[in-house]
Amino acid sequence: MSRTIATRYAGHTALLTAAASGIGAATAHRLAAEGASVLVTDVDEEGAARVAEEVRAKGGDARHRALDVTDPEAWPHAVRAAEQWTGRLDLLHLNAGRNLPGAVHELDDAAWHGHLRLALDSVFYGCRAAVPLLSAARGAIVVTSSVHAVLGFSGFPAYAAAKGGVTALVRQLAVEYGGRIRVNAVVPGAVDTGLWVDAPAEYRARTAARTPVGRIGEPEDIAAAVAFLGSADAAFVTGQNLVVDGGRSISADE
Ligand SMILES: NC(=O)c1ccc[n+]([C@@H]2O[C@H](COP(=O)([O-])OP(=O)(O)OC[C@H]3O[C@@H](n4cnc5c(N)ncnc54)[C@H](O)[C@@H]3O)[C@@H](O)[C@H]2O)c1
Repeated sequence: MSRTIATRYAGHTALLTAAASGIGAATAHRLAAEGASVLVTDVDEEGAARVAEEVRAKGGDARHRALDVTDPEAWPHAVRAAEQWTGRLDLLHLNAGRNLPGAVHELDDAAWHGHLRLALDSVFYGCRAAVPLLSAARGAIVVTSSVHAVLGFSGFPAYAAAKGGVTALVRQLAVEYGGRIRVNAVVPGAVDTGLWVDAPAEYRARTAARTPVGRIGEPEDIAAAVAFLGSADAAFVTGQNLVVDGGRSISADE
């Protein structure tokens, strides 16, 4: 019998972080449409509840839960919630991050450490808590990195350090957990989410013009890549950083 994309996640459970908006919310919709039971989490509990409700309204299976990914003590409870719901965990999407503008000489300790806690420490906390359950299901981890991990942009040192750390950690975890848990990162370029609300129109237009496909990304572009990396279609893919940026990072055009 042929397997259709609509059933790729049938019987699977996914725990999504930072999923009240943007890339995380789009991923919740995508995975649910492919048959997954999705546990939508975010520090913004109301937003997570709204996304879960929207998923259910479209016929998907979703629950929500408040989760501040920077809180190591909250993580085991979130993983247990998935286990108590369906008895399994097949995919962990570690998606938290935000821009922190400011050159190194302008950042104080709290800003630097706070940023690494959100975008890098949280990956450690989440993996530590979820590895046993993911391992039992021969599951997958997908982390949202950024092209800042592979390209230098003026003014974002903490963001680059955190996302670069994610790149190295993904490789390490993939080797560590081998055939038990596949671990990959999706590496978005510019994506039209909350992170871009304050971007001047001229900057958005310039970014689109420098992108070979001629536009900035939509959250759904990234969700599609997360869905691939977390699925059996990527059964032989681990330790990779999949760049999804419309070709921006490979273009030398001005
Ligand atoms: N949008 C882009 O251009 C772009 C590019 C590359 C990478 N990314 C990465 O994509 C990921 C998602 O960002 P987005 O663009 O969808 O932004 P977004 O602002 O739409 O969503 C971010 C979400 O993170 C949540 N969040 C913030 N702090 C949290 C915490 N401590 N615990 C749990 N949730 C928390 C927010 O409530 C929000 O729902 C981030 O890791 C970001 O670095 C985004």
